[in-house]
Amino acid sequence: MIHSKLPGVGTTIFTTMSQLANEYNAINLGQGFPDFAMDEALVEGVSKAMRDGMNQYTHMFGHPLLRKNIAAKVHTLYNYELHPDEHITITPGATYGIYTALTSILQPGDEVIVLEPAYDSYIPNIVINGATPVCIRMEPPNYAIPIQAIQAALNTKTKAIIINSPHNPTGSIVQEADWLAIQEILEPFPQVHIISDEVYEHLIFDGYAHQSVLKFPELAKKSFVVFSFGKTYHCTGWKLGYCIAPSHLMKEFKKVHQFNAFCCDTPKQVALADYILQTEPYTELGKDMQKRRDYLAKGLAGLPWTPISSHGSYFQCFSVGSAMSDKLFAEKLVKEAGVASIPVSAFYNKGDDFGIIRLCFAKKVETLDAAIERLVHWSRKTS
Ligand SMILES: Cc1ncc(COP(=O)(O)O)c(C=O)c1O
Repeated sequence: MIHSKLPGVGTTIFTTMSQLANEYNAINLGQGFPDFAMDEALVEGVSKAMRDGMNQYTHMFGHPLLRKNIAAKVHTLYNYELHPDEHITITPGATYGIYTALTSILQPGDEVIVLEPAYDSYIPNIVINGATPVCIRMEPPNYAIPIQAIQAALNTKTKAIIINSPHNPTGSIVQEADWLAIQEILEPFPQVHIISDEVYEHLIFDGYAHQSVLKFPELAKKSFVVFSFGKTYHCTGWKLGYCIAPSHLMKEFKKVHQFNAFCCDTPKQVALADYILQTEPYTELGKDMQKRRDYLAKGLAGLPWTPISSHGSYFQCFSVGSAMSDKLFAEKLVKEAGVASIPVSAFYNKGDDFGIIRLCFAKKVETLDAAIERLVHWSRKTS
């Protein structure tokens, strides 16, 4: 008999919806991953690295050349100076980076502020460390950062706040004014760290520039910032990313990492070390994804759904205006229309339901066409 560390965790909605999608042969716009091919040049780079014998453990913090080139990229993009040996660790995905950051700083009894709707790993990562998530609600249609509510929740037990921009599931983005307001309210609480989840840094639309926390020196001093190669290079299955933090935080992060993953996949790091020097793959990414977002929204314009503005990420949410719960609506959609989505209530700890579903538009045009056709047909039939 074991005493579960995560007694409240069951099967996630992602598993449930994917199972239903399989069962009903549905088009899966539920889970967030691209269904188109990644760049062949990067695949070739990995094969070459393997053929060249780069198949053993690499450095614990990550392949040195990859870290050096990340430092150069981060300096160019965010004007943040970092030392490749002190401030970066390559991680097996951003999720691992978030877990490791939280594990580095949390003690039982600490509190962590989570803005909901939230990526599903945050709360279990806090709970497993014996700390308490303090959930604060962001609301449709803007999902604005609720500065006053955050300020009211801050206290001497608060150890961290998790911020995600561009945001999953809503596509909202943090602006400069938000970071400055966060900086101001955190001033009386110097023990509070920021975990900034920036996995969609290059998936940003409508002419907005990504506001990394690294652009704000006062905040960067207290932040762990996580990134994901999977999101940027269409290879979510690689589960490879990195974390950036100042030396005193990264020192603790590395202690946890050393006895957990120790190091990550070598050939992929070798290939990425060269590949990330090319700017086009990430400067063009937002434009490409914006086209897919617009294609989906245009195709569904005739439905009685209201799109929630999405300025980033893989996702477009729709307010579906149904009397039933968003979960039941999503189930009905997969069974009757043959399209899988995710009900946004799944991203709230207490299942707050605003009648909104999330669709992933990071798909081939053929996939989007097929989903649009099914949804339009279903909508006509049911209206
Ligand atoms: C907000 C957010 N953070 C982190 C991740 C996970 O990134 P990775 O696959 O690199 O662990 C995801 C993936 O869906 C995400 O949406």
